[in-house]
Amino acid sequence: MPISLSAEQQEQMLATARIAFKSAHAPYSNFRVGSTILTERGNQYSGCNVENSSYGLTSCAERNAIFAAVAAEGSGMRIKAVAVATEKDGPCAPCGACRQVIFEFGPDAMVLFRGQTGAEQMLITKLLPEGFRL
Ligand code: THU
Repeated sequence: MPISLSAEQQEQMLATARIAFKSAHAPYSNFRVGSTILTERGNQYSGCNVENSSYGLTSCAERNAIFAAVAAEGSGMRIKAVAVATEKDGPCAPCGACRQVIFEFGPDAMVLFRGQTGAEQMLITKLLPEGFRL
């Protein structure tokens, strides 16, 4: 069942994601991103983007937060909500790869991010229609 987050919950998760981007390793893009996820157990985990001089090895904030959650809660971890925050103003919707990873663990997940016209709260199934499943 999709959840709807109160304004306070949204702001708390986005504030935590803003703290997370301070840890980013983004010397190549200078685009620091933080993400916080809320699991069905009620725990929160954060991640930041980690870049590499071999550019393709870069790992996004969202996936790093999700992988931390799996490491802590195991394979049964389920995502209720994901928040994304960036240091710079402007839009930052999760990339396509992160959408598929969010869908794996949270087919009903709500995603909070800044879109073209401001703050958005959108279901992962709207961001990723027909997500892949084995
Ligand atoms: N990035 C994220 O961490 N999350 C997103 O949703 C989009 C992009 C990172 C990857 C790279 O380190 C930098 O932003 C610029 O693409």
